[in-house]
Amino acid sequence: MAEATSPIIELKDIDVTFKEADRTVKAVKDVNLQVNKGDIYGIVGYSGAGKSTLVRVINQLQRQSKGTVTVSGQNLGNLSGKNLRQARTKIGMIFQHFNLMNERTIGDNVLFPLLLGSKLTRKEKQAKVDELLDLVGLADKKNDYPAQLSGGQKQRVAIARALANDPEILISDEATSALDPKTTGAILELLKHLNETLGLTVVLITHEMQAVKAICNKVAVMQSGEIIERGDLLTIFSNPTEQLTKEFIETSSQIDSALANVVEQATVQNLGAGEQLVVLSYAGDSTEAPLIAQLYEKFHVTPNILFGNVEILQNTPVGTLGLVLSGVGDAVETALAYVAQQGVHVRRINVAEYRAELARKAAANNEEATV
Ligand SMILES: Nc1ncnc2c1ncn2[C@@H]1O[C@H](COP(=O)(O)OP(=O)(O)O)[C@@H](O)[C@H]1O
Ligand SMILES: [Mg+2]
Repeated sequence: MAEATSPIIELKDIDVTFKEADRTVKAVKDVNLQVNKGDIYGIVGYSGAGKSTLVRVINQLQRQSKGTVTVSGQNLGNLSGKNLRQARTKIGMIFQHFNLMNERTIGDNVLFPLLLGSKLTRKEKQAKVDELLDLVGLADKKNDYPAQLSGGQKQRVAIARALANDPEILISDEATSALDPKTTGAILELLKHLNETLGLTVVLITHEMQAVKAICNKVAVMQSGEIIERGDLLTIFSNPTEQLTKEFIETSSQIDSALANVVEQATVQNLGAGEQLVVLSYAGDSTEAPLIAQLYEKFHVTPNILFGNVEILQNTPVGTLGLVLSGVGDAVETALAYVAQQGVHVRRINVAEYRAELARKAAANNEEATV
């Protein structure tokens, strides 16, 4: 990843309010966000959270109702007409549905942004198109039409087109949401490659934490127009504070399905005094093996491992372990305090409450499905 130091995007106190005949929608509320040069900054949230509105403010396709937008040191709110169009060429954008022109060849789709305002000669423009198609791995598709390409290839064309004017920033709004998991992985890898080789700053909007996990170094979680939590990927993943963040992380690491299984086991439902179901999570080399051994050596607490998972995020192992701990008296609590001191995040699961919560969610989903 390119060195992440100076701010390239600064959003200050941003509100976006839509006024309709019968109602007012506050799509973005008091958002402050700084993206540094070289970041791959993930913005995650459910549908309707305000993600698209927020990123459209970055290139001023959507004007804010309040606040300031600064990109590469330039206050975009002061710009209009030609100056705004000029500033926008430094911000590329890709979308879920590719938005290609079906009646034009792949080459002409990529050429399109160079037709207006580019100082290149005709020959230079064609050379640029070739270079861009090569960059996204589609050198042999120049004369094909979009209908002849797969979804992943179409998104590659859209990326090439978005890079035509050598932008410093690429905004990806759900660009992988219409793609299968394998193609999604390949497109995310391409974005990471562009980040590393071109120093491209990427803002990645998604409703899937999986995508954030794959390539982002920073993440912000949006809910009801607000950023409710943000930070370095590793910090957020190893120690989320907001309920929604936890939900996104659990879904993406399949901890939720592991827990849902575990709490159906009779032994787990009938834990005795001095027994506790916990989920431990840690980032980096706070290696779990010696820690587990110490539970017994130091506290005479017996760990029964129910599930475990280690993922590599940003070249760093992030581990999750589901355990039932058993000990005499308050040995388990003492042991857990020690574990937390070692930098491991401890989550105690109340089995009855957890099951009740699952039942509530299942009922809500059923209701939704039958409406
Ligand atoms: N042009 C618009 N006019 C009115 N309401 C809008 C407009 N665009 C978005 N909204 C509303 O703003 C909220 C946030 O939408 P959006 O930014 O698209 O969320 P997301 O991208 O997270 O799904 C939604 O309630 C949506 O209906
Ligand atoms: Mg959206």
